[in-house]
Amino acid sequence: MSDPHPARIPSLVKKYLMAVSGFVFTLFVLGHMLGNLQIFAGSPGPINRYSDFLHSLGELLWLVRLFLIGCLVVHVWMAILLTRENRRARGPGYVKDVTVQASLASRTMIWSGGVIFAFLIIHLADYTLQTTHPIFKSLEYVENGRRLHDVYAMVLVGFSNPAFAAFYVFAVGLLCLHLSHGVSSMFQTLGVRNEKWRGWLNHAAIAYGLLIFLGFVSVPVSVQMSLHSARPLLPVQTVLSQVETANKAWSADTPTPVVVNYFLPADNASTSAPAPSATSVKGF
Ligand code: HEM
Repeated sequence: MSDPHPARIPSLVKKYLMAVSGFVFTLFVLGHMLGNLQIFAGSPGPINRYSDFLHSLGELLWLVRLFLIGCLVVHVWMAILLTRENRRARGPGYVKDVTVQASLASRTMIWSGGVIFAFLIIHLADYTLQTTHPIFKSLEYVENGRRLHDVYAMVLVGFSNPAFAAFYVFAVGLLCLHLSHGVSSMFQTLGVRNEKWRGWLNHAAIAYGLLIFLGFVSVPVSVQMSLHSARPLLPVQTVLSQVETANKAWSADTPTPVVVNYFLPADNASTSAPAPSATSVKGF
């Protein structure tokens, strides 16, 4: 398929648009990763309150979402236009120049970007729209008489499935590869990667990708290894078995709130969580 308006957007503008929209995601993933790390706070409270706070922003949250969607459209669109432009410039008789050592990340940018995009759709269907399992919407966390959505339980249940956890590790690995090359290209496009700084900036970009990778994968890996079992929380398996029992009794026709009890009996006094409501997770 040919580009309908090949000359409308100059290449440099396309590269700038790629760099700026990419920069927005570079910051977004850092913020999201730091938010996720609250799962290690020793209680489901912090991540559930954080999610509740984000949802309480209402219209502001929607403005941010629309801005992110706009950046995503621009980023993907410019990536497609620039890839086509590069292929056209090489022509059909293009022979690979073996003297040019392009990195794995740079050669696979369009493919890693495509997989990350597919991952994002699945991720939103799973945790934001909560369409992959009907019980997700009913998970509630009770704290000082307030009922919050239990994001913590949703994440534990999701990553208790080894295939799902492995898919996340794979997708986040690609994200790290994509980010490390994307960040160093961004420095190039914005004109800050001169000969003096080139090596240092390239290393900084790789370190950033690695940091994001470790921060994100720590969540599925820790669930798979049941590392959330330390006091005062009940072991992951006990929490999951409560959800599974609730899941057996739960019906989409008459959805009832599912409240997990996370705390050992002595700790219940500090929360107003009711006694264990039910119990583990089939088919996740
Ligand atoms: C282990 C890795 C991850 C975990 C545990 C995780 C967890 C979550 C959860 C629980 C939500 C729903 C938050 C809520 O409704 O309160 C969410 C939303 C989201 N996540 Fe992730 N996430 C991970 C990785 C990623 C990655 C790598 C990306 C980007 C490529 C990403 C992009 C998003 C976006 C765009 C949303 C929607 C935010 C909104 O509702 O406006 N996530 N994530």
